[in-house]
Amino acid sequence: MYFDIGPKEKIRDFYNYREEYKKIKTALNRGEKLIAITGVRRVGKTSLMNILFNELDGINVWADGRIIRNAAHLISILEQGIKQKGGIFGSIKSIGISIAGISLTTEPSIPKAERFIRRRGKVHLFIDEAQYANSLEIAKALSYIYDRLPNVQTIISGSEIRLINEVLGVENSSHPLYGRRVELIELKRLTKDKSLEFLKLGFKQPHKRVPNNELKEVVERLDGLIGWLTLYGYERAIANNEKPLERVESIAIGIVEGELKQLLKDKRNKRLYLSILKYANNRRWKELLSVVRDEIGKVNNSSFSRALKELTRYSFIEKVNEKYSIADPIIKTTVMKKF
Ligand SMILES: Nc1ncnc2c1ncn2[C@@H]1O[C@H](COP(=O)(O)OP(=O)(O)OP(=O)(O)O)[C@@H](O)[C@H]1O
Ligand SMILES: [Mg+2]
Repeated sequence: MYFDIGPKEKIRDFYNYREEYKKIKTALNRGEKLIAITGVRRVGKTSLMNILFNELDGINVWADGRIIRNAAHLISILEQGIKQKGGIFGSIKSIGISIAGISLTTEPSIPKAERFIRRRGKVHLFIDEAQYANSLEIAKALSYIYDRLPNVQTIISGSEIRLINEVLGVENSSHPLYGRRVELIELKRLTKDKSLEFLKLGFKQPHKRVPNNELKEVVERLDGLIGWLTLYGYERAIANNEKPLERVESIAIGIVEGELKQLLKDKRNKRLYLSILKYANNRRWKELLSVVRDEIGKVNNSSFSRALKELTRYSFIEKVNEKYSIADPIIKTTVMKKF
């Protein structure tokens, strides 16, 4: 069902994105060692990884970025996962849902792990939520796997900019992974038409009729983020909530509020960050700075740049053709209502 709210497990429940799915499979068959799935929050990265995790032959090991302490720890997770012929370390997490996994305490002996891993046939290592782990440590582990473990293919995902720049070091010649091939797969948000089609097909499955103008309003308010659309479908068709859109917005606001608080917790200039989020609607750097100054007064260029960069790194803001916009309309609603 399209409106199940956990990360999808099977391709038949996963709407659209067939090209991206095929690209990953082809890349794996070609023997690519490192594949990165990027995309803003709630776009379906974990679902796509989860489907592959369930489908691919060989030993599949899943590590959540939140539990990876350092490079050695990641190698040890890999070793442990192979010993038990596959497994989940940390959780497979989506909106408010987590499937409990196994945690790990021992530090590995790398040469021993290496001898062991190399003898085990085909292995896929999945790293989700890479943005929560220490970038350099993950990068070190990935370059080690790339060079020393020919039978291991890694599929990694996380919020885009930080993943690409810091973990994968695509353009940085002093980075541990520099020069190694990374297959980048970006999941883009759905267009308005596709969003509408997704909702229509989704409501057909539990045989619900929903008026077209209601669906159009939902697409306007939630944009093309499939995570929010799924949650709406769930509330409307399965939980039979009388005010599904309000409910989704309130859940979504709660999630975004938590993420924003986490980002802002040790910032001295919180107002600067919030003001940027409020006014980033397709504006150029200079123009955005000027409206932010109108709101909060004196701001120097470098603090503004730093804040904007950080918001972009964590995918709250997207930069397209030199213009900055919030990645999701819920972010703006959250800022207006909660901060
Ligand atoms: N292509 C799809 N078809 C149907 N449902 C989807 C699809 N992609 C995602 N979903 C649903 O959207 C929600 C978010 O998906 P998922 O957790 O995979 O996204 P994510 O990109 O990993 O999000 P986050 O950035 O928060 O980790 C889930 O409820 C999932 O079931
Ligand atoms: Mg995810």
